[in-house]
Amino acid sequence: MDSESGNFNSVFLSKLAISEEHGENSPYFDGWKAYDNDPFHLVKNPNGVIQMGLAENQLSFDLIEEWIKRNPKASICTTEGIKSFRNIANFQDYHGLPEFRSAIAKFMEKTRRGRVKFDTERVVMAGGATGANETLIFCLADPGDAFLVPSPYYPGFNRDLRWRTGVQLLPIPCYSSNNFKITTEAVKETYEKAQQSNIKVKGLILTNPSNPLGTTLDKDTLKNLLTFTNKHNIHLVCDEIYAATVFDSPEFVSIAEIINDEMDKMDECINKDLVHIVYSLSKDMGFPGFRVGIIYSFNNDVVSCARKMSSFSLVTTQTQHLLATMLSDDEFVDKFLVESSKRLRKRHKKFTTGLEEVGINCLKGNAGLYCWMDLRPLLKKPTFDSEMILWKLIINDVKLNVSPGSSFNCPEPGWFRVCFANIDDQTVEIALGRIQMLVENGAKNKQQWKRNNLRLSFSNRKYDENVMSSRMNMNMMSPHSPINIPKSPLVREEEEEEEYEIVVR
Ligand SMILES: Cc1ncc(COP(=O)(O)O)c(C=O)c1O
Repeated sequence: MDSESGNFNSVFLSKLAISEEHGENSPYFDGWKAYDNDPFHLVKNPNGVIQMGLAENQLSFDLIEEWIKRNPKASICTTEGIKSFRNIANFQDYHGLPEFRSAIAKFMEKTRRGRVKFDTERVVMAGGATGANETLIFCLADPGDAFLVPSPYYPGFNRDLRWRTGVQLLPIPCYSSNNFKITTEAVKETYEKAQQSNIKVKGLILTNPSNPLGTTLDKDTLKNLLTFTNKHNIHLVCDEIYAATVFDSPEFVSIAEIINDEMDKMDECINKDLVHIVYSLSKDMGFPGFRVGIIYSFNNDVVSCARKMSSFSLVTTQTQHLLATMLSDDEFVDKFLVESSKRLRKRHKKFTTGLEEVGINCLKGNAGLYCWMDLRPLLKKPTFDSEMILWKLIINDVKLNVSPGSSFNCPEPGWFRVCFANIDDQTVEIALGRIQMLVENGAKNKQQWKRNNLRLSFSNRKYDENVMSSRMNMNMMSPHSPINIPKSPLVREEEEEEEYEIVVR
């Protein structure tokens, strides 16, 4: 046993394998574990934790299911589709099925409202956007190199972009004072600081629409950032995984549009070789389990290198075959995209209106599967410690898994991401009721919480001890594994609790 770490595995495994860079030990993933330990169910466990930390799009599954029923031939494991079984099961070319690449390119065009053409020869497959992001970084940078990333940003980036590549992320802090907009000044400042520290900056990573903000980047911002990256001869990577989740104006503008349409109008000559798009069907279609990720690069060398690397994380041919048929069905796709956006808008409105009624505001969003909720008025002090205390209260006692801003590297305490598209209407109502109780009753009215079986008191120390021991027990599990998880670390005996009082200003 390694005496320092107290861990047997550290002797036998690689440094990379046992490093903390995976980022699993963050409240973002702890929240998922808390849900897995005590999952809410309308009937079976009505006092459980409601999962609002998962950006899943489950509002339009009925449309997909209907399509699948109408198209049994698209699946190779049906009587109607079995004729294709051999060919599909045998296919192993890492370029992917031509019909799949062409269907994906067409779908990407539709999600950008037909304002841009995507070349099928540039579509490279990967295991979700997770695999696509990592593969792209492998192609673009060496260990120690850095990428700038506006913060708050998706917590998975710490794992996907850094862990195995050895690349660093340098956050560009964005603040609520201008609605978290990315300013060229902030980008410049972060870039220059890196230069002064002799850090080699290889690029800038944008998530558009943003996770966690739920906002889109406007044309001017995109143009300015493109100009900046080109001027410094660094890459611009745009993760556009939420392209079709836009449910309100302004419309989504893809970097591909800027490249195609705006370039001629721009004074400078833009080097397209430095621009790359990451895409996936995890959010727009709601298929995170299919692991369909796409790298679309304007650079021929990157396309060819990424394609070779894609051998490590291909999309199965069974999935490619199904999606080639589904995404080529124009009538279905057009209807799906309109309806999905309509349902997201409705759900977003229901949720944000409910929050407003109890005095909670969100950043004005027009996209995504979540809101960026402003809980600053509930913090005891404007610090990240207070944010963590509030988060523990919300997860332990209010029993909602929302994700604290600190896990997104937000430079300002008090913001929380709350997902609204992975639960049904009734659960939304219950979640809103719990938030209302949090705001209105506070810890002062503990009886109210008891009556509702939702305790509003907790032990900080107890939580930390339990989560640590739970983490040690869960070394072998994925952060989202529901199996064999030890009894909830968040369930405590009444006498162990310490009072916590929230201050509503
Ligand atoms: C911005 C962003 N990029 C990438 C991913 C990973 O997506 P995938 O499931 O396709 O790997 C996510 C998932 O939440 C995300 O929000």
